[in-house]
Amino acid sequence: MIKIAVLPGDGIGPEIINESLKVIESVSEKIDIKFEHTFCDVGAIAIDKYNNPLPDETLKICKESDAVLFGAIGHPKFDNNPKLKVRPEQGLLKLRKELGLYANLRPVKSYKELLSLSPLKKNVIEDVDMLIVRELTGGLYFGEKKSDNNFSSDLCTYTVKEIERVTSVAIDFAKKRRNKITLVDKANVLETSRLWRKTVQEISLKHPEVQLDYMFIDNAAMQIILNPKQFDVILTENLFGDIISDEASVIGGSIGILSSASIGESMGLFEPIHGSFPQATNKNIANPVAAILSVSMMLNYLNLGNGAKMIEKAVENSLINKVSTADINDISPSKTSEVGDYISNFIRENN
Ligand code: IPM
Ligand code: MG
Repeated sequence: MIKIAVLPGDGIGPEIINESLKVIESVSEKIDIKFEHTFCDVGAIAIDKYNNPLPDETLKICKESDAVLFGAIGHPKFDNNPKLKVRPEQGLLKLRKELGLYANLRPVKSYKELLSLSPLKKNVIEDVDMLIVRELTGGLYFGEKKSDNNFSSDLCTYTVKEIERVTSVAIDFAKKRRNKITLVDKANVLETSRLWRKTVQEISLKHPEVQLDYMFIDNAAMQIILNPKQFDVILTENLFGDIISDEASVIGGSIGILSSASIGESMGLFEPIHGSFPQATNKNIANPVAAILSVSMMLNYLNLGNGAKMIEKAVENSLINKVSTADINDISPSKTSEVGDYISNFIRENN
């Protein structure tokens, strides 16, 4: 029995998580492993109920689970009011910190079927296959914050240990891929970036088979669009990783298909990289593929790689047969629930 804490969250979160659960159900039948789901509140919905974006009960259930499946977080009513002290996003940040999820893995690849959807040229994006490894519990997000009427500051700090542990995750993945890491930083300006370079360089000496390159973040932002094929694993700090992973999603044709895993010493959280997409809430139009592929990352993490492969194959088949939501199929779009049904049925019938 595998225990999953299910945190649907806000906006389209509950709808896409619902489709992921259908997929878990069909994989569970095929690999003969039972999953137990415990639903918990997080984000705006938890603020509405308990005035707390991460209730203690949610955190407790997550800590007692084997993995966390996360939908989306955020609501527009909080976005334009800088005075608010309690915000949905704090729930996710606290969860990452409390669960020690220091490495965020964001794979970006171009699917043949979706090449024409990207505003980038086909020859630039075809065969792109990169993995962004974003540090997730340090940097500006978590440094000391100060604010009064005339002044604010967010402190960016990193320790050697924080850099080392995420670097070893990046090295492990590079070894399973094409043995190349590009460290993205701003070492020409920032002390923290210079510590990153020094630390990553030292570690990389012990792994001569992995090629290490460096790139400044401003140049990387350009290179990701100009020549994304040059990247295998991108290793970067928290805020830079946040920004370039949204940028890189343009390569895949839609942010609605990008999944992510956040891992640490003993826990994993799996979530689509897109947000809560408030305009689409309850319309049955959101793309569930990012959430479904997050389940596949979860299964890999749980050493159930055969189940993960079933999901990947089924998703690819849905793309080939154009059973897709409007963001990637404007001619004959399927509904969120139809995509989930198709993918889970495909798994049932083809394995
Ligand atoms: C992400 C999101 C979050 C982040 C927000 C919701 C706090 O943008 O996971 O990329 O900035 O990390
Ligand atoms: Mg982001």
